Amino acid sequence: MAQSAAPTAASLDALDLARVFHPNTNLAALRRGGPLVLVRGKGVHVWDNHGKQYIEAMAGLWCTTLGYGDDELARTAYEQIKTLSFSHLFTGKSHEPAVLLADKLVGMAPFAASRVFFGNSGSDANDTQIKLVWYYNNALGRPKKKKIIARHKGYHGTTLGSAGLTGLPSFHKLFDVPLPPFLHTDAPYYYRGATAGESEEDYATRLAANLERLIQSEGPDTVAAFIAEPLMGVGGVLLPPRTYFPKIQAVLAKYDVLLIDDEVITGFGRTGEIWGAQAFGMQPHTLTAAKALSSAYLPISAVIVPEFLYEPMIEASGEIGIFGHGFTYSGHPVCAAVALRALGIYEERGLYEHVRRVAPQFQARLTALAAHPLVGDTRGIGLVGACELVQSKATKQAFDARLAVGAKCMQLCQEHGLIVRAIGDVIALCPPFIVTPDHIDEIFVKLRRGLDDTLAWAQRERLL
Ligand SMILES: Cc1ncc(COP(=O)(O)O)c(C=O)c1O
Repeated sequence: MAQSAAPTAASLDALDLARVFHPNTNLAALRRGGPLVLVRGKGVHVWDNHGKQYIEAMAGLWCTTLGYGDDELARTAYEQIKTLSFSHLFTGKSHEPAVLLADKLVGMAPFAASRVFFGNSGSDANDTQIKLVWYYNNALGRPKKKKIIARHKGYHGTTLGSAGLTGLPSFHKLFDVPLPPFLHTDAPYYYRGATAGESEEDYATRLAANLERLIQSEGPDTVAAFIAEPLMGVGGVLLPPRTYFPKIQAVLAKYDVLLIDDEVITGFGRTGEIWGAQAFGMQPHTLTAAKALSSAYLPISAVIVPEFLYEPMIEASGEIGIFGHGFTYSGHPVCAAVALRALGIYEERGLYEHVRRVAPQFQARLTALAAHPLVGDTRGIGLVGACELVQSKATKQAFDARLAVGAKCMQLCQEHGLIVRAIGDVIALCPPFIVTPDHIDEIFVKLRRGLDDTLAWAQRERLL
């Protein structure tokens, strides 16, 4: 039944439950617990439809880097809508915001880039990456070189192609993905993956050797690319050992395998460097960006490529009659104008430096949580981090996943006015870049209360 009068908070909750098909949600738990309906945001805070205020310590979905309600971005969108509300990039048409944004991104790329292909989301950008790699190898007369290696626990999106790259079972089960050309190798998850006494260096060496074995067993002439996030966000905020990427890259170079850098979470300063690649010694051939690209004010993504990848496609598309890939909204002028302004704001307001300035406080407060009885591990860099909840700190014994301890902790944090993300029993934090030292205090005071409440609950339920 459609609603005509202004909805009350309770009726909005009920209507959501009746009408909205929620993405990436435990639909059974949602039916029991109901939605959290947000109605307003300003700076690093948001308010729900019952009037409760939260500090948004996840920047939405790792994305609202400039916080909420920025006047300059709002004005930019308004002006662009008045000037040219839509134009496209098909059949050689173009417009100023896309041209200027492409040029800006090429100049920022952490490798010798030359061009940018625009999309609307991180997922479709990674599908573009897959299709570019296939098109490139076909154009070069290497039709067998098609397999793409991703990693267990990696997250690259949920479209049909990118879901195959994602290495998390809940994004595969019942969906009939991954499709055949996608393979998965180890996640760099030192806390759980290293053997007793294994150093980070030895662990990285072992993972690179496993990758080499996989490439050899599949046949190097069939392996086209390796895709990796500099740090794995959705997989549980997993930071690679210092020598991991150099060792992986040596293997990729040996077998002529391209390295695709998925910077959807890490791009534009999250780690303290402009790119996560720079923070972790990664030397990619191509790059995917989204989220912070527009501070999530409007949907836009970018695939940044070098000329050597583009060049063979020119003749090939001429023979076919078209380079047959793209979206109506590829490079949408309003999204592109807002993204270009967001990139300008990062520089003009000194936000790269600001992240580097406040990161030590954020990381110190995170590390201090390691003393909490429920916390087995803490890890992070820049303004991203996580704590992993365990049943036993000594043995690293995890809770039974069915107990949903992480989800309980997230809910208890929410009661204290803090939004975090539970990834299984990993509690992730990824606040807007504009957090002040006081905001960081607010986040950790509330998180500690949420952890204490979770501990009390776990003790009452005899889970420990
Ligand atoms: C590393 C990474 N790649 C791709 C995606 C998918 O982006 P989107 O949700 O915009 O499709 C995400 C989303 O969280 C991500 O973290």
